[in-house]
Amino acid sequence: EDALLKSMPLFGKKVLVTAGPTYEAIDPVRFIGNHSSGKMGFALADELAKLGADVTLIAGPTSQKATEVLKRIDVVSAQNMFDACTAIFEQTDITVMCAAVADYRPKTVSDQKIKKQDSDFNLELEKTVDILATLGKKKKPHQILVGFALETNDEENYAKGKLEKKNLDLVVLNSLNDKGAGFKLDTNKITIFNKALERTVFEVKSKNEVAKDICNAILKIIK
Ligand code: CTP
Ligand code: CA
Repeated sequence: EDALLKSMPLFGKKVLVTAGPTYEAIDPVRFIGNHSSGKMGFALADELAKLGADVTLIAGPTSQKATEVLKRIDVVSAQNMFDACTAIFEQTDITVMCAAVADYRPKTVSDQKIKKQDSDFNLELEKTVDILATLGKKKKPHQILVGFALETNDEENYAKGKLEKKNLDLVVLNSLNDKGAGFKLDTNKITIFNKALERTVFEVKSKNEVAKDICNAILKIIK
């Protein structure tokens, strides 16, 4: 049994996967969020675990359940996710940043429910920290860093820009223009770029099958 374990392609690898949206509080009852279901990230985390990896899944608010992953840390905000990621990043061999992290959050969080006024209401927002870009700066040569790019236009150029700017080994492009790709769907359509900017285009598949394609792209780098 031990020999079987050791023969798994990601045996002994420490892997970090993030998944789901983040919620940025406005007041005790309201938040800014997005439509991420967490499905893609959970499928990836389970697939990596099936390949023998020691996976830690850091999840934003989601109803998903991981079946193979043993270590799960639930977070709410971008800042929570940043703290959880940076706490373990140094120990990880592979990090896959699948979460749909909010880019902005309310500048102040009211500790009481904000009451309706007769006038209109302006909410001031400030930038959140870019978790992936921060990890890209800390990355050591032995570490593999994978990011996603969600685009609606000029997709390939934006995706390649993110690969370079954030110091990634792979970027997974998710184009909302593609039929079969989207937040709530069980299917996805991706294009992967590696560091050499080589492009691999995949068909529409179930998110579980897409997870396998992404794992194969990671395995190619390791070999
Ligand atoms: N990401 C992150 N921290 C943020 C924002 C994004 O770690 N504060 C990560 C996402 O998890 C994803 C990648 O960066 O892996 C790209 O996210 P995306 O939203 O597509 O790109 P942004 O760099 O945020 O740029 P924009 O939203 O303007 O396209
Ligand atoms: Ca963004």
